[in-house]
Amino acid sequence: SATEKGGYRHFMLKEIYEQPQALTDTWQGRLSVDDILASSIGTDAEALLSQVEAIHIVACGTSYHAGLVARYWLEAMARIPCNVELASEYRYRNPVVPKNCLFVTLSQSGETADTLAALRYAKDLPQGQGYLATLAVCNKPESSLTRESDLVMMTRAGPEIGVASTKAFTTQLLCLLLLTGMLDRDAQKRGHLAADIRKIHTAVSQVLELDDAIRHLAEEFVDKQHALFLGRGPMYPIAMEGALKLKEISYLHAEAYAAGELKHGPLALVDENMPVIAVAPKNDWLEKVKSNLQEVSARGGKLYVFADADAGLNTGPGMTVLDMPHVDDTLAPIAYTVPLQLLAYHVAVAKGTDVDQPRNLAKSVTVE
Ligand code: G6P
Repeated sequence: SATEKGGYRHFMLKEIYEQPQALTDTWQGRLSVDDILASSIGTDAEALLSQVEAIHIVACGTSYHAGLVARYWLEAMARIPCNVELASEYRYRNPVVPKNCLFVTLSQSGETADTLAALRYAKDLPQGQGYLATLAVCNKPESSLTRESDLVMMTRAGPEIGVASTKAFTTQLLCLLLLTGMLDRDAQKRGHLAADIRKIHTAVSQVLELDDAIRHLAEEFVDKQHALFLGRGPMYPIAMEGALKLKEISYLHAEAYAAGELKHGPLALVDENMPVIAVAPKNDWLEKVKSNLQEVSARGGKLYVFADADAGLNTGPGMTVLDMPHVDDTLAPIAYTVPLQLLAYHVAVAKGTDVDQPRNLAKSVTVE
């Protein structure tokens, strides 16, 4: 009903708008003034995490994309080698487990059959070939996944009704950023990260102000059949998530590419009928991303770029730029997810699809 939706037209839009608060709830109690508190996920968590030398992350769907972002963070910041894999692949593959490896599952529902099976597989490995411990990042307390894991970090997004995951994803990202901090042995870096995380409410609220501009932009996608999403570094999985959102609810064929891979195939698809959406925060990859955008422009492609206001990118022929507020590097994957959620939402509304209940999809896939 309309009241359940709090005045919003769809649960998905309500859940997109709940993100500043959901993200704040997710970090509350997990930060001190200048540190990230491992003890917030259990009394023995600190001792356990101090032994971790490698990480395996396993998940499905949107949750898998959160894992892919975390790999960049865990390796670049905490310097811990990290593998990320789809649960449906992992469970049948006979993987090699490195020494002192933490097994991490990510799941909104905590009931996804493949993710649960992967956890059970990981726990059943013969003595000496298995994991140090298991950690679930999950949005449903008392779910199978949380009950069967050694450590649990709740995402605290609150109930998510829309089939296309939004606030569960950004709060997963924040949990993984917190985990990265807990594993970082450099106290000064942990302090900086804690300070960055406290800015998340402001950052995401500012991004939500782009809603009207994005609704306008969405009109240009209604008659399109395909779309290409581009990003680099930690923004590559964000491009994947943007493409997934568009597929799920607006039924457009969307694909994501790491922008440096354009030349190895997708450039052949670029023409005026193929919108290309890019995410370009001000980070170490920006200049590379800009030259990739040039490659698209030079072939007559239509670009839509969500870029830092200081990125030096301007709207002109063949390129529409939406100015994003400046955000810290660490928060960029969270902040840049939001306009892609809004874009998918508004394209779906304009096309008249069933936004909260897309055809053929389920909120939680509890059978293989
Ligand atoms: C389904 C949902 C997706 C979700 C995926 C994994 O496909 O429609 O939105 O990302 O399952 O779900 P989980 O609950 O494990 O995160």
